[in-house]
Amino acid sequence: MNRGGEGERGSCSIGKGSSMRLPSGPGGLSNAVGGGIVLARYGISWKEQRRFALTTLRNFGMGKKSLEERVTEEAQFLCSEFKSQKDQFNPQFFINNAVANVICSIAFGDRFEYDDAKFQRLLRLFDAALKAESGILAQIINEIPFLAKIPWLIDRVMQPEYELIAFLKEMVSEHQKTWNPNYIRDFIDAYLVEMEKVKEDPSSSFNEANLLMTTYDLFGAGSETTNTTLRWALLYMILYPDVQSKVQEEIDQVIGSERQPTMGDVLQMPYTNAVIHEVQRCGDIIPLALPHMTYRDMEIKGYCIPKGTTVITNLSSVLKDQEIWEKPFQFYPKHFLDENGKFVKREAFIPFSAGRRACLGEQLARMELFLFFTTFLQQLTFEIPSDQPRPSEDPFYALTQTPGPYNIRVIARV
Ligand code: HEM
Repeated sequence: MNRGGEGERGSCSIGKGSSMRLPSGPGGLSNAVGGGIVLARYGISWKEQRRFALTTLRNFGMGKKSLEERVTEEAQFLCSEFKSQKDQFNPQFFINNAVANVICSIAFGDRFEYDDAKFQRLLRLFDAALKAESGILAQIINEIPFLAKIPWLIDRVMQPEYELIAFLKEMVSEHQKTWNPNYIRDFIDAYLVEMEKVKEDPSSSFNEANLLMTTYDLFGAGSETTNTTLRWALLYMILYPDVQSKVQEEIDQVIGSERQPTMGDVLQMPYTNAVIHEVQRCGDIIPLALPHMTYRDMEIKGYCIPKGTTVITNLSSVLKDQEIWEKPFQFYPKHFLDENGKFVKREAFIPFSAGRRACLGEQLARMELFLFFTTFLQQLTFEIPSDQPRPSEDPFYALTQTPGPYNIRVIARV
């Protein structure tokens, strides 16, 4: 796969980090929309924000709990929710709550109860922002960039995003009131330390607008992706009960039922690890990654790609390459196992993309996928409800590639 100039983000006419800056927006919020990491242009600000986010996530021993403890805790809450469902149900809403809560725990220092009004407002705003960004109006504006110069039209698309930023602003204000640089509770507190260090330097990228956008990016990039992958995982488990049983056997052998799974278990669990990798390969949730833009003229294999060209990387073509994978279009965990049942890494496994702009949440995402998935299958067995047809494996595409809605029934194992 060729990533061209690998630096800049490409051709969106609207949205944060686009070449266009928002013409208006309530309460001066437009100043805050732009920057961050995901759609930021290649440059010093992106580098600083990315490095800070990576280091902060890596050293996450903030406040009372480690990142692993927070994810494990959330996985337990999610399993309890699953267990409390008396009848068949669609797991999407529950998984969404749990995965977003992990990011809340990182960004705001603590998780929310699932029925907390503030938490539900946050989720509603995210949902609305995602729908607006991938909706028909946004697509028309992207096709006809001139339309992006009409302020009321842009405001209409961006309204949910403005409201979301206003929500995050409230959270930052609350943090500022109780901020203690000697006791860092979360991502926002850590960011405020950076802002304090450079307060005399107006050119620094550590400012409130970037704090808001970077926090926004953790939610935007970290929730839907992990949530969708876990939905694929449960779908494959109900469609392939033999695979589910084998994972459970391995869990019973290595972890048992008395203690919670930990990341230290991964190496002893080649089959489970292979299944999770195959879920990601087959689910292929971001087939075209994010658009990039060459920041200088490039020559690749004799082709000239001029500066400013939008480059779209086709991750799918690698994840489903017929010359590499034995059964590219089937769910086949053996893709990641050798003849002795040992886990094998595959170079063509690139759901997190590659290069300088590759996913910065990969480590967190892998932790979430392993801990949620093993906690599910340690405690529960998942089935297609007897009155339901076999759900389809065909994906729906809208920014991410998701499974269609399906219901499950759970049976407690412990
Ligand atoms: C299964 C889960 C995930 C998958 C499959 C995934 C995949 C990706 C992909 C394909 C990209 C685009 C890379 C490119 O354009 O070449 C990306 C970017 C990004 N992801 Fe993830 N991601 C996941 C979870 C997360 C999580 C949990 C976080 C953080 C909390 C996160 C944060 C980001 C950020 C900030 C970027 C932009 C990086 C940059 O532009 O420098 N992701 N991710």
